Amino acid sequence: MRGSSNKRKRRPPNSETIAETLAEYASTRPNKGATRQVILQGDCLDVLRCLPDECADLVVTSPPYADRRKSTYGGIHPDRYANWFMPRAAEIKRVLKREGSFVLNIKEKTYNGQRHTYVIEIILAMKESGWLWTEEYVWHKKNCYPGKWPNRFRDAWERCLHFTKQKKFKMFQDQVMVPVGDWAEKRLAKLSNTDKMRDESRSQSGFGKNVSKWVGRDKVYPTNVLHFATECANKNHSAAFPLTLPEWFIRLFTRETDLVVDPFVGCGTTALACRKLNRRSIGIDMRRDYCDLALRRLADEGGKTLWDAVQKIDA
Ligand SMILES: C[S@@+](CC[C@H](N)C(=O)[O-])C[C@H]1O[C@@H](n2cnc3c(N)ncnc32)[C@H](O)[C@@H]1O
Repeated sequence: MRGSSNKRKRRPPNSETIAETLAEYASTRPNKGATRQVILQGDCLDVLRCLPDECADLVVTSPPYADRRKSTYGGIHPDRYANWFMPRAAEIKRVLKREGSFVLNIKEKTYNGQRHTYVIEIILAMKESGWLWTEEYVWHKKNCYPGKWPNRFRDAWERCLHFTKQKKFKMFQDQVMVPVGDWAEKRLAKLSNTDKMRDESRSQSGFGKNVSKWVGRDKVYPTNVLHFATECANKNHSAAFPLTLPEWFIRLFTRETDLVVDPFVGCGTTALACRKLNRRSIGIDMRRDYCDLALRRLADEGGKTLWDAVQKIDA
């Protein structure tokens, strides 16, 4: 989305020098081992306006799930959620490179005894505003403990919606390959004639398989169901996602020293994943204590930051 000069004019008054430094940060690839992370405080709508157009290779984030955590970091009523989210999505679109990806980890809460439709409303509004809804990954929370509800079972999965700006985008599938699994030894020991040729799907989907191609391989491509355990303990944030979640998408959609943005960074999990994988990152959160926590966690892991203290952008 070029031609965003109108939005640029509405940058917060204290942001000009920060924006200049960010522009330089975004356009300079560091030498090996010199990657720095950035944590900024403010409403991501205002803070994203300080970032240059088309600078991010990946935006991966988990926004507030409507008003589920009202008592800690406020919230937006489910009926108003899509209207609140879409101006922020427009800024995300502006800062994302054409071949970049936007991964949105979200789950609709139940409201008045049924699932609310705000995530579905977002998907429709995103498509309406030009995004491609390229894929949906399911995060299965594999350590979920059981519970008892009168009308449903334990909610053990969340959506990771994958949006892109165009059909062709950067994707490094080899970076997320998984062990082939026990099935292979027995299944591949004796191949039938069909196994030795491309067997077209009977559903006429256009997909086909040649089983013999898997002989001798110890890694295969994963499915779109991701089995990661939650890790909320000891992070002082009630809704942190596990490090493995952003890590997986960062490996899949970026190369080393690429730039990752998380507009709702919380206690800095995405920034930590970037530090581990040698990517640059800009993390934004409106709460000062979460930004400070993110900086502390980075420092504890030996991470380097662009500024020693959190930079605050006023509305
Ligand atoms: C689901 S949590 C994200 C947790 C994060 N993934 C982590 O691992 O710590 C959502 C975060 O969004 C922040 N937030 C809410 N509204 C915001 C806004 N308008 N701009 C920036 N941050 C916001 C909240 O303070 C909260 O930390």
